Amino acid sequence: MSATTLRTHRCGALRAEHAGNRVRLGGWVHRRRDLGGLIFLDLRDRDGLVQVSFGPDWSPPESLRAATEVTTESVVMVEGDVRLRPDTARNPDMVTGEIEVLGLHIEVVGPADLEALPIPVWRTKGEDLPAEELRLLHRHLDLRRVELQRNIALRHRLLQRARSALSSLGFYEVETPILTKPTPEGARDYLVPSRVHRGQFYALPQSPQLYKQLLMVSGFDRYFQLARCFRDEDLRADRQPEFTQIDIEASFVTAEDVYDVLEQLFAALWDEAGHTLAGPFPRLAHAEALDRYGTDKPDRRFELELDDLSEDFAGRGFAAFDEARARGGRVRGIRVPGGAALSRKQVDGLVAAAKQAGAGGLATLKHQGGSLTGPLAKLDGMTAESARLNDGDLLLATAGPDDVTGPALDLVRRQVARALGLVRVGDHAFLWIHQFPLFERDPDTGAWTVAHHPFTSPDPADLERMLAGEREGVRALHYDLVYNGNELGSGSIRITNPQVQLAVFDLLGMSEAEARRRFGFLLRALRSGAPPHGGFAVGFDRVVMLLAGAESLRDVIAFPKTTAARALFEEAPTAVDATELRDLGIKVDRP
Ligand code: AMO
Repeated sequence: MSATTLRTHRCGALRAEHAGNRVRLGGWVHRRRDLGGLIFLDLRDRDGLVQVSFGPDWSPPESLRAATEVTTESVVMVEGDVRLRPDTARNPDMVTGEIEVLGLHIEVVGPADLEALPIPVWRTKGEDLPAEELRLLHRHLDLRRVELQRNIALRHRLLQRARSALSSLGFYEVETPILTKPTPEGARDYLVPSRVHRGQFYALPQSPQLYKQLLMVSGFDRYFQLARCFRDEDLRADRQPEFTQIDIEASFVTAEDVYDVLEQLFAALWDEAGHTLAGPFPRLAHAEALDRYGTDKPDRRFELELDDLSEDFAGRGFAAFDEARARGGRVRGIRVPGGAALSRKQVDGLVAAAKQAGAGGLATLKHQGGSLTGPLAKLDGMTAESARLNDGDLLLATAGPDDVTGPALDLVRRQVARALGLVRVGDHAFLWIHQFPLFERDPDTGAWTVAHHPFTSPDPADLERMLAGEREGVRALHYDLVYNGNELGSGSIRITNPQVQLAVFDLLGMSEAEARRRFGFLLRALRSGAPPHGGFAVGFDRVVMLLAGAESLRDVIAFPKTTAARALFEEAPTAVDATELRDLGIKVDRP
């Protein structure tokens, strides 16, 4: 469906079968080449590029002149005849490379001024992209790039596929409010002041969590939404202040049913991107993931696992290890088969990575050509056997509390796997992480918080202990989905008993009065006949990023924010008029 009143085809849609047709095209002048009176325009639209040639033998003089003068990135309407290119002129790198259009008529309908083009769209092969700030500032031009056009098109197809897959599994798409009350998902809220109710604020939803639970209470049975979520948190390449979730909730389910729906959804999404997935996805308990990989989102496209080396190094006179153990820590590390081949610089890079992730250091031991080298080699009684190293192996070790050594060794593990080419490219290493703890300590304040959100059900096996006031070791019916080391989503079975819900709030230090003030509507709903229910939310932007092979979420979102949470193109946030603030009853303290 590309023909309109103004054009017959999209530029990038022309093929050999169109040879002999007279066509009308509209597009952007991607590139103009002048070969001694013959003018070649590469005309671009959403479907791709096509070559339009103007020459004195077939183009009227005024068309030839217009084609000579047109600036790149101008929008033109062209009429011409499609013909097969001679064999020698075929271009296999172009989807339309078998044909060209002999230009008969050209009209510049949207001229582009050079000053309005601060960044180029066409680049020579290998030419660097302009700085990202500049590209985000001129996003309408940046979005003309073929890579971004492709990413946005993929995003569209994945959105449609998610919709159709869930719809055919019996899920209703329901929209929930954007102006709402705070939903605790662990970030700060974006607040919106109310003019009508001065001094009162809406919060933008961090997720539709409570609404989807209410929809279950209302009997909708299966809900989904391509939900926009807003979180004021520290940003990274895989986080944006506003992002999209494929948000799901279902009634009368256990975790098994949720896994099943998600595995079907992911099979559909990956299929849309041309990959076949083998299910069901393997599962790993949270504690085991931390023990074997140091992280709850391990990349399992390669084997390397963490080992407890505490006994291997006990009594060998290595002060850093002994002190860490005396403080209750462990010595943990990775035996890297073939790792002795790494260069000094690569090993230094691993040490730097461990330190950057918070470890005190990373000690190394190489077994190569029958001898041991590295800082650990000189320890009392150190032999290849005692370190359990084969010739060619490298041992990387660090000591401290698990929550310090884990993240450091995870980073080291990923870096060493890349350096040695151990990552199975093209692998789709999906993994369910389950049996999370319900409570955890905030690393900054030491206060108890929830590992997921406060609506997650405790594991029935641990419920009594929890109701007796225990937090430590209480497991949750919470699961995450991990893909190649990325957290793609999380979910849980929810609390439906209002007493249990109040007990969780209480264990989080929330008084009953505060719980009722903040979540009274949920507590009332749970008392009105609530079915067992649970669900999941997929970080959709991350899915698109990974399937597009993009490095950053910004490359798969049409108008993203910078890492400083700014919209450069449209310039948001901005100061507002004093009168607007007065109407809202807000005074701003300017620094
Ligand atoms: P959670 O907070 O884990 O769960 O979010 C689910 C998934 O959303 C993605 N995500 C993000 N993506 C981009 N930018 C961000 N700032 C960002 N924050 C999160 C991640 C994450 O795994 N209501 C629960 C789900 C549930 O229990 O059903 C929730 O929102 O991929």
